[in-house]
This record gives sequence, structure tokens and C-alpha cells, in this order.
Amino acid sequence: MKIAVLTSGGDSPAMNAAIRAITRVGIHRNCEVFGVFGGLQGILNGQFHELNSRSVSRILHRGGTILTTGRSEEFRTEEGQKKAAKILSDRGFDALIAIGGDGTMRALKALSNHWKGWLIGLPGTIDNDLYGTDYTIGFDTAVNNALEALDKIRDTAEAFSRVFLVEVMGRHAGFIAFHVGFATGASAILMPETTTTMEELANKVIAAKNRAKSSVLVVVAEGDELGNADTIGKALSERIGEKCRVSVLGYIQRGGNPTHFDRILATRLGAYSIECLLNGKHGGMVGEVDGNLVLTPFEDTWTIKKPIDQWMLGLLEELSG
Ligand code: F6P
Repeated sequence: MKIAVLTSGGDSPAMNAAIRAITRVGIHRNCEVFGVFGGLQGILNGQFHELNSRSVSRILHRGGTILTTGRSEEFRTEEGQKKAAKILSDRGFDALIAIGGDGTMRALKALSNHWKGWLIGLPGTIDNDLYGTDYTIGFDTAVNNALEALDKIRDTAEAFSRVFLVEVMGRHAGFIAFHVGFATGASAILMPETTTTMEELANKVIAAKNRAKSSVLVVVAEGDELGNADTIGKALSERIGEKCRVSVLGYIQRGGNPTHFDRILATRLGAYSIECLLNGKHGGMVGEVDGNLVLTPFEDTWTIKKPIDQWMLGLLEELSG
């Protein structure tokens, strides 16, 4: 079987571990594996390079993606998808494995309308917002990166008894904010999945201060409906009559050495994607649910919303003390 593999959309830590597993397990089981450089646009540009076991040496521990990535406007069009299908067929590919987020799963679904080859997606995004897997590749590392920063910010917050708003990534999803918020002991978590008014937020912060808390941390997902941390920080400062400090963590969350959790998840899903293809299973995203490896149809990964744990959310105030 001749297989192409690419990474698309925002990079996430342990994408390399997935590329390594796909390449090595694929070659071991008599497949030819080609890396596509530059994401989906790389197909259109004909940037294919055959990979061997040594091409993926020394990458298991590295963040980013050795295949490089991108967001292709051309691939969003039907002409682009037809062109990609023709290129893949002309080059004799039997299958394409793409590692990325919801945009990548949508692209694979669109490509399936024009190409007879077999398609498999791997969930590679720090946002953890794909249905069909408990965790996406890179999420655990991103949360730990953010947590390390939060622990440092907490030192200053405590030293001055300050209120801090810390913005984490998540344009459309609050999973990073949720996990970081609980792991750091935040007094409030703002995210797109829940609605919090400015008044409610101010009341929470004032209540925390009245309980003599030495510092108050509010974790804000960048996609929260109240705005970004800067906007919220200004409005909150006015309401509580105290200057709130703001820290935007940004891209620091997306890079660096992946955690052991992400390396193993990526390795399992990479190897499983090859097993699926060799067993004739395709047309979906591989994931791990309750410890089991599963294949979920592409549309389900973005149409079905992964729920936020409401029970835990209800505990936040009690836990923040
Ligand atoms: O998809 C992951 C993500 O990190 C989002 O949380 C974020 O909004 C987005 O990517 C930003 O990525 P870029 O700046 O590369 O478009």
C-alpha cells in the first residue's frame, strides 16, 4: 500500500511522534510511506518525499512538525479538492493520513467526494475539541505549558494580593481553560461553552477577596463571549475598583517537548491508523475513547460537540476556597 501522510492547520506537540509511528509501523508492514510537506497545500504543490525509518529518527521528543504545516485556501475550493484527488491518483497513492484539527477533518470529508483512495484522520490539535477521542494529540502538553506559566504568575499574584486574568488558547473551545483552571485553582474560568456576565464575574472575584484569598486567578479562553482577557480585565478593574493584571500566554502553549502522555497517544493512534488501513477500515478519524482505539466518521468529529464536565464545573467555587 502506498500511503501519504501530512500535518495540517495549527501544529501541536507530538505530531512528530505520530509521523514516526505511521512511518515505522507502515514500513514494517510493507507499505511505502511518503511525507507531504506544507499541509494540504503540499499535495497541490507536489511536495512528496518518501520516508524511511531513519527519516523519522530523533523526532519523538520534538514539538512542531517535521512535515511543516499550513492552511490552504485553494484546498477549500472544489477545484482544489479535485486537483488534489487527481495528483494523489496520478502518483499512485492508495491512502492519505492527515493529522490536524476540525478543519483537517472537514477537508478530508470534502476530498472523499472526489477521491477513491482511503482517508484517515488523526486528532492533532491543542484545543481537544474533536468528538471521537477523549484527548487530542498535543492537548496535554499545551495544558502543562500553560500550567507552568500559571504557577509562576501565582507567585506574583500572591506577593501583591493581586487579581490576575490569564488568557489561554482556544478560539472556539474552552478545554484548555477548563483543565488549566482546575489544575491551578482558579477562582473563575471563562470559556465559550459557558455564559458568564461581567456582573457574575465581578461578584465571584469580590467574594474570593472577601474570603481573604491572597490571590485571585481568572483563566480566560481566548474565544470567550465577553471578549479577550485585556477587554475583560479593563471592565473588571472598573467594577471592582482595583487594577487587575492581564497575562496572555499565546503561542508558548503550542510548542516544546511533548509530555509522555501525548507521545504515547500519538504513537498509539499513528500505529492504529496503519492497522485500520491494512484491515480495510477508513473514512474516519482514529481516536481513543475510554482506553479503546476507535474510528469515528469524519462528520461526527465536528458536528457532535464534546461535552464539558458540568459536575466538575459546579465544584469550582467550593474548590477555590
Ligand atoms: O487550533 C489551535 C489554536 O491554537 C487555537 O486555539 C488558536 O486560536 C489558533 O490555533 C491560532 O492559531 P493560528 O494563529 O496559527 O491561526
